[in-house]
Amino acid sequence: MAENKKVKIVALAGSTREGSDNKKLVKIAAQAASEAGANVSVIDLRDFSLPLFDEDLEKREGAPDPAKKLKNILKSSDGFLIASPEYNSSITGVLKNAIDWSSRPSPDEPPLVCFQGKTAAIMSASPGGLGGLRGLVTLRSILGNIGVLVLPNQVSVSKAHEAFNTDGSLKDAKQTASIKNLAAQLVSTLQKLNN
Ligand code: FNR
Repeated sequence: MAENKKVKIVALAGSTREGSDNKKLVKIAAQAASEAGANVSVIDLRDFSLPLFDEDLEKREGAPDPAKKLKNILKSSDGFLIASPEYNSSITGVLKNAIDWSSRPSPDEPPLVCFQGKTAAIMSASPGGLGGLRGLVTLRSILGNIGVLVLPNQVSVSKAHEAFNTDGSLKDAKQTASIKNLAAQLVSTLQKLNN
């Protein structure tokens, strides 16, 4: 595939934490997607410092610059790699806030321009036994409801506090392979859809 036809993927974690296991997961998946032929941008939601979504603020001042910046990045992508912890068995506030800001309409754009017709692969990591699996149920539902095709396969890493080496790689080769497969599936699905 020619360089200018590469599918574009934005990879992000639903945690802003510096040592985030989900950020590690996203990096592994991003590397694999890149090796499978995609143009991948890894973003850190911490860098955006998004305010909490507030309709009054939006009405008064419009979308704040960080929300516009995030929206532009998501808008230009064909798909997403997302790894998120579950907080109280749902998605994190930081991820939901980012989705909420990015879902807001602008008069010059079609509705849900960042999401409609896009494709996503979702993952989670948690120190618990379920690996954040319950949060993915909610994430899948939210993304589906705003027009994102979410791949049926997903990966959850349980006991995440013990699962990674100091260099950010996973100790378990099978887990690494399933993340690489998921990322490759996302790339091949996007390549087919973009043909
Ligand atoms: C958690 N954590 C957590 N873990 C889990 O498996 N199920 C849960 O419902 C919750 N709930 C929860 C709520 C809140 C407010 C916090 C701060 C944490 C633990 C969480 O999975 C753990 O902190 C992860 O390490 C967070 O992911 P990152 O930051 O390492 O990517």
